[in-house]
Amino acid sequence: MKILVVADENEMSVEASRLIGALVRTKPNAVLGLPTGSTPLGTYRELIRMCYEENLDFSRIHTINLDEYVGLSGDHPQSYRAFMKNNFFDHINIDQSNTHVPNGLAENVEEECRRYDDLLRHYGCTDLQLIGIGQNGHIAFNEPADAFTPETHLVTLTESTINANQRFFDNREEVPRTAISMGMRGIMSTKHLILIASGEGKADAVAKSCFGPVTPEVPGSLIQLHPCVTVIVDEAAMSLSGFY
Ligand code: PGA
Repeated sequence: MKILVVADENEMSVEASRLIGALVRTKPNAVLGLPTGSTPLGTYRELIRMCYEENLDFSRIHTINLDEYVGLSGDHPQSYRAFMKNNFFDHINIDQSNTHVPNGLAENVEEECRRYDDLLRHYGCTDLQLIGIGQNGHIAFNEPADAFTPETHLVTLTESTINANQRFFDNREEVPRTAISMGMRGIMSTKHLILIASGEGKADAVAKSCFGPVTPEVPGSLIQLHPCVTVIVDEAAMSLSGFY
């Protein structure tokens, strides 16, 4: 595991976008695994700038997102499909038909999960998987549990995650209680895993994920077993790691 400690969130975004940009230039048809959330916003902004100012070409890039809320259509402003369009896809020269997000409105969620795993199998694996981390150590919507779930699956969000995501909705009641999430196999099968985190609120999750025991109670801890991981964190997010 390579850990890059940077001064702040901005530097974290610049470093992450540099790695992604280098892959897009060297493998123009790369498959990128992408997250939503506040953490990757700066990375997406920087990649958009690189597309405009440095001719970073996404025309042959494919993307696979980690998760989607159940019950929200891709047009719903808080859906992760809409998030990706508004914050990234609509601003780069990507072919939107090459972008994949689980269908939150699928009539049969089980079938949608299998379809997503088939899609992952079709691509083989992602060339790069960018992930954030929840304060409780979740990655994608793989919440703390008794066992790791390998496949794409239906998850019931924890109170901590509902509270954290409430800020995007008008009120707590509107936050969906379930989601479709890529499982740990899809995430871990990537060639290069990049975890980004900033701020004190993530310090405990970062410390446990990078230096604690590997346990499904801290889903992020599984990244310790990946052969090619880059963790890019600011000093605040690294502040509790000295205790391990
Ligand atoms: P955040 O979420 O980037 O909005 O903090 C990260 C996550 O929950 O994975």
